[in-house]
Amino acid sequence: MRLVAGLLAGLAAIAAVSAQGNQSAPFFLKLKSKSADLNGNYLYAGHTGALQQTFLLYDSKPLANDTSAIFNWNYTIDNGVASQFGLLTWLFPSRPSSPVQNLWLALDLTLSIRTNVAPTSISSGEGYIYVGWDGDKLYIPGAGTADDSKFVPHVYPNVTASYGLKLQQWYACWVYFGPYYYLAVAWVTTGHPHNPTCEPVSIVREFV
Ligand SMILES: *[C@@H]1O[C@H](CO)[C@@H](O)[C@H](O)[C@H]1NC(C)=O
Ligand SMILES: *[C@@H]1O[C@H](CO)[C@@H](O)[C@H](O)[C@H]1NC(C)=O
Ligand SMILES: *[C@@H]1O[C@H](CO)[C@@H](O)[C@H](O)[C@H]1NC(C)=O
Ligand SMILES: *[C@@H]1O[C@H](CO)[C@@H](O)[C@H](O)[C@H]1NC(C)=O
Repeated sequence: MRLVAGLLAGLAAIAAVSAQGNQSAPFFLKLKSKSADLNGNYLYAGHTGALQQTFLLYDSKPLANDTSAIFNWNYTIDNGVASQFGLLTWLFPSRPSSPVQNLWLALDLTLSIRTNVAPTSISSGEGYIYVGWDGDKLYIPGAGTADDSKFVPHVYPNVTASYGLKLQQWYACWVYFGPYYYLAVAWVTTGHPHNPTCEPVSIVREFV
C-alpha cells in the first residue's frame, strides 16, 4: 500500500509541474427561476458564522464595486488546456484591524443527516466542492458511480465511469443557520426537497 501511495504521490508531483492555477475574471451570479419573486435575483455572500457565508439574494443588480456579490472561479491549466472543474471563490473582505487579510474562501455544501437540503457554504472549510459551467450555468459534476435507485438484489449494478453528469439541483429555500433564518441557496441531494419552502433555481454567471 505504502509503495502504491508513494508512486501515486510521485505521479501527482510530476503532473503538478505542468499544471498551473489560474483565476477567472470576476462575475456576478444571477438566479433563473419560474418563480417571479426569485427570477433575476443576484447572489451575494452573506454572513452565517465566523468566516462562514452562504448565498443570499439581492433583488436588483449589484454595483460593480460591491465585493459581496463578486465571485471568481479557480481552475488549472495543464499543457494549455483549462480544467473543466474548479472552485467557486470569494475574497473575504480585509479590514485594517483584522488578523485575516486576503483570505479566499470557496464554495462548499453543508450536508445534514436530518434533511436532504444542503445549504451553500462559502468558507475556508475542510473540503470544497468542484464545480463547472454548462455555458454559464453552474453545475456540480456527477461522480462516476452507480445509481442506487436502480439496484436489484444480487445483480451487480451498472457503473458510470465518467463525470458526464452536470447536476444542477439548486434551490432557494428558507434555511435556519442558528440564530439566523434566511432565504438562501441550497442543494437538494436527491428527490424532492424535505423543506417545503424550497423553489428550484438555476445559477448563471454574468461577468462584471
Ligand atoms: C488566466 O485568467 C485570465 C482571466 O482572469 C485570462 O485573461 C488569462 O488568459 C488566463 N491565463 C491563461 C494562461 O489562460
Ligand atoms: C461604488 O460605486 C458607487 C457608484 O458607482 C459609488 O457611489 C460608491 O461610493 C462606491 N462605493 C464604494 C465603497 O466604493
Ligand atoms: C484562487 O486563486 C487565487 C489567485 O491565484 C489565489 O490567491 C487563491 O488562494 C485561490 N483560492 C482558493 C480557494 O484556491
Ligand atoms: C444496465 O444497463 C443496461 C443497458 O441500459 C440495462 O439493460 C440493464 O438492465 C442495466 N443493469 C442494471 C443492473 O441496472
